Amino acid sequence: MKNTAQTEPFLVIGNWKMNGTRELLHKFACDLETTAPAGCTQVLCLPSVIIPNAVDALADHNIEIGGQNCSSHPSGAFTGEVSSTMLVEAGAKWVIVGHSERRTGFSETDEEVNSKADAAITGGLVPIICVGECSADREDGRHLDVILDQLAASTPSNLQLGEAVIAYEPVWAIGSGKSASEDQVREAHDAIAAWLKENLVPLPVLYGGSVKPDSAADLAAIRNVDGFLVGGASLDPASFKGIGTVSSETLSKAQR
Ligand code: PGA
Repeated sequence: MKNTAQTEPFLVIGNWKMNGTRELLHKFACDLETTAPAGCTQVLCLPSVIIPNAVDALADHNIEIGGQNCSSHPSGAFTGEVSSTMLVEAGAKWVIVGHSERRTGFSETDEEVNSKADAAITGGLVPIICVGECSADREDGRHLDVILDQLAASTPSNLQLGEAVIAYEPVWAIGSGKSASEDQVREAHDAIAAWLKENLVPLPVLYGGSVKPDSAADLAAIRNVDGFLVGGASLDPASFKGIGTVSSETLSKAQR
């Protein structure tokens, strides 16, 4: 159970991946309350092309917008890439870097993720830096080593307080419909928080991997879980709203 004073908002961040239309944005605008659940900050990380539409559609809502990837370069001959300053101009405040789908499907290395996080901060965004082990790492019992090695290599060494957020997403829990167990989440989040405190600066640590409204209460109650990165359930306004509401209720009951 949480036992520290809660000062920072609990982050409920949706990752729409390569999904989303203007119609879905309209549905979110109709179905979501204009205010965020108490104690929560809501963010939607969207495909870059619909960010300006989201800014318009959700102008009355207390929801911040993010991208899902950015270039490590500020500008230049990089066909198909989007820079952090372009995302800011489009209306984004956040960007996901190093999601496991980019590490696996696009061969992104820790070094590239580190450069992207750095470029995001320089451009004025808050990077959500993702780390997480695959099932083989966990079966071999080396998940904590893998997570902390990724964390050390993917986070810029000059990071300051409030400049970034970490997302712990076990690869085997993403899109599987079954989140990691409370013990597994507690172990990973405690290790990440301790590493950050000792080696860098304390940063919020999100859990991601099949978060749903019915698992959010137990997960939000875990010490050092400072928010969620939500994939599938963030595409449905009722589920996204439900995760925020349940988290808010849990936080208000817990001694944080
Ligand atoms: P999921 O995705 O919630 O669908 O498991 C999480 C993520 O990929 O960030």
